[in-house]
Amino acid sequence: MNAPTSLPPAPPAKLSLRGVGKNFRARGNDIRALENISLDVSEGEFVCLLGPSGCGKSTLLNIVAGLERADEGTLLCDGEPVTDPGRDRMMMFQESALFPWLDVLENVLFSLRLKPGMNAAERREVAEFHLQLVGLEKFRHAFVHELSGGMKQRVALARALAPNPRVLLMDEPFAALDALTREQLYGDLQRIWRDRRKTILFVTHNVREAVCLGDRVVLLSPHPGRIQREFRVELPRPRDINSVELARHATEIMAELKGRNGGTASERKVA
Ligand SMILES: Nc1ncnc2c1ncn2[C@@H]1O[C@H](COP(=O)(O)OP(=O)(O)OP(=O)(O)O)[C@@H](O)[C@H]1O
Ligand SMILES: [Mg+2]
Repeated sequence: MNAPTSLPPAPPAKLSLRGVGKNFRARGNDIRALENISLDVSEGEFVCLLGPSGCGKSTLLNIVAGLERADEGTLLCDGEPVTDPGRDRMMMFQESALFPWLDVLENVLFSLRLKPGMNAAERREVAEFHLQLVGLEKFRHAFVHELSGGMKQRVALARALAPNPRVLLMDEPFAALDALTREQLYGDLQRIWRDRRKTILFVTHNVREAVCLGDRVVLLSPHPGRIQREFRVELPRPRDINSVELARHATEIMAELKGRNGGTASERKVA
């Protein structure tokens, strides 16, 4: 008799959240920011968290970053519990949070300062490589005040990528930029994600942005923050945010938002 054949076990999800809940207390009020969030993100997947203001997107990202602790549930990265921030999960915010007293290259080098096993020359090489990746090698010695908003976010992206994190966490990183600059960055981010094979969790309240970037769009509803529905986006890449196909997907997601919330004020904040 032949030995029974068995399939190899499926690889564990890069990120795995089970029953995650989070409460805040502010000015005497209890706020249920997140409730029963269960989500698996595969290695190399680009997942967008979409939802109206206050639905807990940033809180969820901060928990994955290890900046906040969940009150309930579990969070695993590569099967290991996440309890603290780590270089394997780098975060990028709406404001670039660059150091104004350092030049562009020094800002990127800063994120490599604690990287073990690298000497100064190797750090410099890695920092230069990442500045090139975001198209800013000619600005290595510029200071933050000399950069446009889009350039600052490019430096922030280079800084987040330089320590070679497995997971990139992005909290509305392009929200403060003009439409044209944003479009360039959508193209660049898709290229970098594909070439560098990162797992990305990207927060936005912009439906088209979510459809343009995500393999999957996870829709959160507010009060308390819960997963309302997930959409898989199978449009070819690189995606053009102005394409008719992309608009069709965005309309479908918008309809789900309106159907559930009945066109409430908070829903209208999702643009
Ligand atoms: N440190 C905190 N203390 C008290 N309440 C908080 C804190 N952080 C978040 N909250 C509350 O938790 C809820 C979720 O907030 P969060 O910032 O995660 O929402 P969000 O979806 O990121 O919103 P936005 O789109 O406006 O950035 C909100 O009601 C918010 O007021
Ligand atoms: Mg937020």
